Amino acid sequence: MTFELPSDLEALRRHVRTFARERIAPLAAELDRNPTFPRDSLREMAELGLLGVTTPEAYGGTGLGTLALAVLVEEISAADASHGTLMAVTNGLPQKLLVAHGSEEQKQRWLPQLASGEWFGAFCLSEAHAGSDAVAIRTRAERIEDGYRLKGNKAWVSGGGEADLYVVMAVTDPQAGARGISTFVVENGTPGLSFGAPEEKMGQHASITSTVHLDDVHVPESHRVGREGEGFIQAMDTLDVGRISIAAQSLGIARAAYEAARTYADEREAFAQRLRSHQGVAFPLADMISRLEAARLLTWRAAARHDEGRRVTMDAAMAKLVASEMAGFVTDAAIQVLGGAGYTKDYPVERYHRDARVTRIYEGTSEIQRIVIARQMYRDGD
Ligand code: CAA
Repeated sequence: MTFELPSDLEALRRHVRTFARERIAPLAAELDRNPTFPRDSLREMAELGLLGVTTPEAYGGTGLGTLALAVLVEEISAADASHGTLMAVTNGLPQKLLVAHGSEEQKQRWLPQLASGEWFGAFCLSEAHAGSDAVAIRTRAERIEDGYRLKGNKAWVSGGGEADLYVVMAVTDPQAGARGISTFVVENGTPGLSFGAPEEKMGQHASITSTVHLDDVHVPESHRVGREGEGFIQAMDTLDVGRISIAAQSLGIARAAYEAARTYADEREAFAQRLRSHQGVAFPLADMISRLEAARLLTWRAAARHDEGRRVTMDAAMAKLVASEMAGFVTDAAIQVLGGAGYTKDYPVERYHRDARVTRIYEGTSEIQRIVIARQMYRDGD
């Protein structure tokens, strides 16, 4: 057993860290104030291969795998959480689903565009009344002569309105529950596809979250991924990787907050000593780094196991639960270390706290992760 990254991945991590500090971090405060979909910087990320990390080289990706995805999403998220979300989503959801479940023709058709960053991919599972209870979605896919007609509304779609390709879960058999849901690819520009205004969110303003409306959208049968009725299981299987990437994002945001607090505690004095000399500040910093390292171990283990081809439902849920809760603790503690300064926009820690909050919600809330873990405990017979 080793706790070091392979040397080539460590080198890539350092390279991407420098890129993220120089090219992404300087955009973060302005994107928080005036959010726009960061197309230019995403293009730069694509040039480094960051938008096709888990897609095999045969389909235009770098095929580096899930551990690399986790390591690199952390680096980008430490610079800006919105970029981290967009990277996590396009890699971990639409591309992952097509790699695992798409036909050869579908992979050839869509993956190269997504992996190269020419197209951005989004994932449409949740609906306004069906977030945690994903089986309760109502978007309907009715069979018609030459394909399907999709009708319904998808909620909280990261990249909604900006993305070029939407992976959509819809009900094909209303009587069949989880086995009555199927997956479809809908390209932007398809008649009947439209978008709501971007949600006004607490944080991560530039990841642009919108409702996706499907008003009698016609897709040919060749846009259905896998067989009818496999969509829910495909979505769950895909979220296993998605959740690892959100755990990695939590690590990145928390690391940025910890580093800001550590620097502040080193530079500022109170009661004739540096802040770091006061246990009241040093102890929270010690807790922050300890919890961060613990969450990273769980995240990397889940990712490494996925690369070994193992099912990681429980590992991914544990990593996301622990890492996202950790990010809430660390970003809050960072504000406390900075005191009044931490509550202002003169420092980035208040943004880190707002950005981190949603990691406990999207791609399955902390409560859903606990449900998944509790069920897997008995399933695995441990
Ligand atoms: N891998 C493979 N199959 C799985 C699976 C997994 N991880 N999880 C469940 N399944 C299978 C089950 O084995 C079952 O199959 P059978 O019919 O053969 O038994 C089937 O799926 C149904 O599973 P459950 O009975 O467990 O279904 P449930 O209704 O009890 O719900 C749940 C399970 C875990 C609560 C699920 O609904 C869930 O994860 N909810 C949260 C949804 C979520 O994470 N949404 C995030 C959306 S993405 C997003 O955030 C947007 C964005 O842009 C970032």
